[in-house]
Amino acid sequence: MDVKELESYIVDIPDYPEPGVIFKDITPLFADPKPFRAMVDAFVSHYKDEGITKVVGPEARGFMIGTPVALELGAGFIPARKPGKLPRATVSASYELEYSTDTLEIHADAIQPEDRVLIIDDLIATGGTAAATGKLIQDMGATLVGYASILELCFLNPRKKLAESGDHDLFSLIKVN
Ligand code: PRP
Ligand code: MG
Repeated sequence: MDVKELESYIVDIPDYPEPGVIFKDITPLFADPKPFRAMVDAFVSHYKDEGITKVVGPEARGFMIGTPVALELGAGFIPARKPGKLPRATVSASYELEYSTDTLEIHADAIQPEDRVLIIDDLIATGGTAAATGKLIQDMGATLVGYASILELCFLNPRKKLAESGDHDLFSLIKVN
């Protein structure tokens, strides 16, 4: 399957979770093995020569795409979890939402300075989640190779936010303008 066909699997849900918002439901991309395989292959093809040692996926939808991509790249998978879920010592990053802040945590011993890290998520909207995760990886002393997403909402200008923590590759399979 060509990557161009992936967008047809995304279902727009108007006024969810609140009026005026169009929610992009990506679950059909995972429900069918053809688009699921196409997504994984596209990410692996883009990053296979980058020496990635760890793939980090933010909870929860970042787990869905992060784990198969990590396995196929021959890399480990590290979950960035919502607060209080990881049992051992953690490092954390907080980031702004529209009306509040959110926090992600990674086990402190999960990333080493020699690691080459790819951050992957289903969606990059404002870029807040990815930027906070990227800052965390760099604060841990590892090399941030780049960010990857299935869907990028370009009109929210996430590339500007991501550029604040350095010049890193952002590879998105589908871009919505
Ligand atoms: C969604 C999505 C991304 C993030 C993108 O996650 O899965 O992780 O928002 O938004 P941003 O670029 O503006 O930060 P959400 O926090 O809704 O949680 P979930 O993955 O657990 O559903
Ligand atoms: Mg998420």
